[in-house]
Amino acid sequence: MDKLRVKKSLGLSGEIYISGAKNAALPIICAGILTGEQLRLSNVPDLKDIKTLGLLLEGMGVKINFADNKMDIDAAGLNSCIAAYDLVKTMRASVLVLGPLLARFGEAEVSLPGGCAIGGRPVDQHIKGLELMGADIKIENGYIKARAKKLHGAKIIMDLITVTGTENLLMAATLADGVTVLENCAREPEVTDLANCLVKMGAKISGIGTDTLIVTGVEKLHGAEHQIIPDRIEAGTYAIMAVMTRSDVILRNAKPDIMGAIIEKLSLAGAVVETGQDWLRVAMKNDQDICSVDIKTLPYPALATDMQAQFMALNCIANDTSTISETIFENRYMHVPELCRMGANIAVDGNVAVVKGVHNLTGALVMATDLRASASLVLAGLVADGETIVDRVYHLDRGYESMERKLQQVGADIVRIKG
Ligand code: EPU
Repeated sequence: MDKLRVKKSLGLSGEIYISGAKNAALPIICAGILTGEQLRLSNVPDLKDIKTLGLLLEGMGVKINFADNKMDIDAAGLNSCIAAYDLVKTMRASVLVLGPLLARFGEAEVSLPGGCAIGGRPVDQHIKGLELMGADIKIENGYIKARAKKLHGAKIIMDLITVTGTENLLMAATLADGVTVLENCAREPEVTDLANCLVKMGAKISGIGTDTLIVTGVEKLHGAEHQIIPDRIEAGTYAIMAVMTRSDVILRNAKPDIMGAIIEKLSLAGAVVETGQDWLRVAMKNDQDICSVDIKTLPYPALATDMQAQFMALNCIANDTSTISETIFENRYMHVPELCRMGANIAVDGNVAVVKGVHNLTGALVMATDLRASASLVLAGLVADGETIVDRVYHLDRGYESMERKLQQVGADIVRIKG
């Protein structure tokens, strides 16, 4: 298993190119199942999760061509509607094939993903919505087994805000008979990117970007070309890195207009943040104190749960005490014991963490069981005295394209140790 060796690296400067958004690319690749024509995607991040989804679709008879951040998806020859446990268990987003398979082929067998490091993560809202659209769904032998001669429009009020739940139902509704009204939808920019791609494929959707999506089903969708939006979480992670290491860094191919809550917190931490249409600059003076920032994770446009661990790393070395409240996932504090091993002062009570800033962190051998938690450990390693070894880098590789190369480009002392 690969590891990263990270050494203290302050006062970095230069540019980092932000990749396409993993969480936009995953549903959009699944949208390729909705048509027998080719879907051509660009700005697709070269990540483990994207390759896993590619393998899952290839196993169903879909042709995938992925090179140089471009992906062509051709589902004309799809010959199996089964998403098996061995791949689904490694990536929960596989459940995103459920809606498209059911809508175009009238059947789907998708393994239930099982437990997850950050919480139980049930898919009851996906199932409830599809049942309201006329699907007959059974849970048997660990699989969601769904059938529908033809899905029909329905009014669906989601009991809670779910990103992939909204995406699954949105995709299913594009080919249903009649009008589907989805209420209490997730408004994450990745949902909007999917909706925009579906419209290019011939879907009729109104209310895009709001919490109510109205979809008028069409007979068929067609091929299209689409560029995946930049990854706001990757950009946010490197922006926090710039603050923590007192650096001056420009993030290219970013999309600051979908990073409002992140940018607000960076400014409160003391950073100077300048933005253009597709870039942001984050600058912090070398002797400047970092101000603690209170965090409460909530659905978009509020601060994303996917940024919580990284902001916690920042608060570990800030000048005061902060409170972090995680309201989306029940078990997303796996980074806390690891950060404490590096000298952080964090107390967790239920879903609230109180972080007392300390003067110094010290390097240690650390590991995490989740993508964003691992990112927070790399950030902590960049400001800790001595050497930090981050184990189980495969978590990072699921969601950060070439993290060590991008950090090296701005001068960070970080290397991958092949294992
Ligand atoms: N939930 C239910 N029932 C459902 C669906 C969700 O109770 O049917 C609950 C979940 O257990 C959770 C909350 O609702 O407590 C929100 O979960 P959501 O469904 O929004 O999460 P997701 O769609 O499974 C996506 C991202 C996650 C991100 C969350 C929240 C993708 C592929 N994944 O997950 O990304 O944290 O939304 O924004 O889009 C990551 O990239 O590291 C990551 C975990």
